[in-house]
Amino acid sequence: MSERTKPERIKHLLDWKFWSRQDIRALLDLALRIKQDRREFEDRLHARTLVMLFQKTSTRTRVSFEAGMTALGGHAIHLDWRASNFTLGDIRSEARYLSRNCAFIMARVRDHADVRSMTEVATVPVINGCCNLYHPCQALADVLTIAEDRGGDPSGARLVYIGVYNNVVNSLVSICEAFDIHLTLVCPLRDDSVIDQQSRRRLLDKGLLKESLDAKESLNGAHYVYTDTWLDMEFFNDPAYADEKERRISLMLPYQINSDLLAGSQAKVMHDMPMHLGYEITEEVANGERSIIYEQSENRLHAQNAILIDLS
Ligand code: CP
Repeated sequence: MSERTKPERIKHLLDWKFWSRQDIRALLDLALRIKQDRREFEDRLHARTLVMLFQKTSTRTRVSFEAGMTALGGHAIHLDWRASNFTLGDIRSEARYLSRNCAFIMARVRDHADVRSMTEVATVPVINGCCNLYHPCQALADVLTIAEDRGGDPSGARLVYIGVYNNVVNSLVSICEAFDIHLTLVCPLRDDSVIDQQSRRRLLDKGLLKESLDAKESLNGAHYVYTDTWLDMEFFNDPAYADEKERRISLMLPYQINSDLLAGSQAKVMHDMPMHLGYEITEEVANGERSIIYEQSENRLHAQNAILIDLS
């Protein structure tokens, strides 16, 4: 098929809520296979190029996608939004151009509408590398980590997320539905404008979502406890957000993942990184025996390799 012809329907990844349960489950199986037998897939994306567009900072998303394309026999181009003509041109025409010279686009943008508009014009798959509403690549890596920890099947796991209701939570909610994972949200800070109520309602209706403000009680019987930063990464060191940062620290500090909170619980500890040690999680817990945070971050690579192969 010529890249110039826009097929009827290109498969993109905006969030798991737009994928079928069957497709998401098949993707997890593929990720498990890729991780176990990397050589089988080492030439799968030979001569294919991924453009990685970043409007925001990144460590894991950039490194894991680039390393992934290398491992699969392809190539990745890092495109900093500020150093590109996305700053000058219309996003739709710039994205349309990208489709002419690359096989995939991965975009980390502030506004979900921007990545969605790219899917409307692109003639190659577009992957959401994290926007204000969703972080689907992270959620697949999270479920892969839980699956590995449970012998290959994440179904029935009891996961407690303690922190701010954010983009990571929206994608966790939608992927938990596909795997029948029991999710408890302990989110004292909720901004209605970023909550995907449709995904939340679907998980509630299936009896898989509980919401509570009692962090200690929520950990009863939990297999995993997960947290994330209390302030969006681009604001954490911004003096303009100093007051908001202080307000959030006061509100959230009682919900810190620390050894007191975890006393009596067997839950393993997860964090999508970057971590703000001493805020949402203590250094002792992050680097402690029950932490699976580095397995989780490593799994970004394997999860995304599965996404790239599936979309190719
Ligand atoms: N978790 C995550 O997306 O990490 P980066 O922001 O470093 O890419």
